[in-house]
Amino acid sequence: MAHYQAVGSIPPKRHTQHRRPGQGDAPGELYYEELMGEEGFSSDSSLLYHRNVPSTTVAASVWEVPDQATTPNHPLTPRHLKLHELFDAESVARTDVVTGRRLVLGNGDVRISYAVAAQASPWYRNGIGDECVYVERGRARVETVFGAFDVAEGDYVIIPRATTHRWLPVADADEPLRAYCIEANSHIAPPKRYLSRYGQLLEHAPYCERDLRQPEGPLLAEHVGASPDEQTDVYIKHRGNGPGGVVGTVHTLPFHPLDVVGWDGCLYPYVFNVRNFEPITGRIHQPPPVHQVFEGANFVICNFVPRKVDYHPLAIPVPYYHSNVDSDEIMFYVDGDYEARKGSGIGKGSISVHPGGHPHGPQPGATEGSLGVEAFDELAVMVDTFRPLELGEGGLAVDDGLYAMSWSRGTARTAGSPHSEG
Ligand SMILES: [Fe+2]
Repeated sequence: MAHYQAVGSIPPKRHTQHRRPGQGDAPGELYYEELMGEEGFSSDSSLLYHRNVPSTTVAASVWEVPDQATTPNHPLTPRHLKLHELFDAESVARTDVVTGRRLVLGNGDVRISYAVAAQASPWYRNGIGDECVYVERGRARVETVFGAFDVAEGDYVIIPRATTHRWLPVADADEPLRAYCIEANSHIAPPKRYLSRYGQLLEHAPYCERDLRQPEGPLLAEHVGASPDEQTDVYIKHRGNGPGGVVGTVHTLPFHPLDVVGWDGCLYPYVFNVRNFEPITGRIHQPPPVHQVFEGANFVICNFVPRKVDYHPLAIPVPYYHSNVDSDEIMFYVDGDYEARKGSGIGKGSISVHPGGHPHGPQPGATEGSLGVEAFDELAVMVDTFRPLELGEGGLAVDDGLYAMSWSRGTARTAGSPHSEG
């Protein structure tokens, strides 16, 4: 983020002495300054002041990350993946968002995983890229070295690469925590076209700085009921020779990772709620990029939110058939009236996979059916990738196997709905 923040105790001049409170005339011990910077320290960065040497580890062991193997989408078919079938009540009770996420789709740029979790996660950092975790349902507290967030339904939680953090589901939430995890091999940020040359969100952007929540900090071990000296394991996802180039390591620290007394800069986690996305509408169908919310290298994240639809007297509210010739389109259906459309196959918790090389759009009859509709009540999150996605073990496990034929007239099944944009 380009927006400067300063939290907790920092010295007035960077790279100068910053000490703990002393006793009497004796100066306090120095804090340890860490520069956390992107793109070889040529982009956004923050300075963090630690109680402990941030390099310290006393042990390293292998973390067997969840299965990252993928299977090509071949023969090429659109697919319907039923994410809500991935976790039953028994498995939810023993699952955490970090070690329990199951890979649904992935390629060399991005991995989409899903977890329904009741357990607290271990401390974790992703050394491969930024994460965007969309909270489909439930509530959680996300603790990071920058500070904490209370997150709930509709929140996008953007965690920069190498940020140490953990996920704590709220046990009394009405629904279990459902997390849709988008892991980049790059950074995730607002689209460049939404930003001024200096990084301010522009007037035409569908959200602004006021809509972004900052971490509440500083957050120290004693604030979470832990001892600063508590030995702690940190699970690190990093590049390696495993499937998808992903491997894991556990580093044991001789202290608690929440030891940052202050930080400042433009690199930090933040949260944006999808309900704060202001839809852009018009007399006729608006181009798909108006739905974009974030971007990473070789992929974009879009959302489709409740909105009034096209108001030209002859408007057709549902999209035209389209060939997104450079992209695979992955639509995650979160809310809306999809379940009322019996026989569509698509419902809450569904993913549709519309691969490049195959045109897609509304089901037969949906276009006529949409005429005169004034508003859509849909909520969906879409990831479009420029390189083809392959199916992870989770995706293969909940593929309905029928979706590809759903546009064929005369079959019992139809796909999508008049709401279906993706
Ligand atoms: Fe589409």
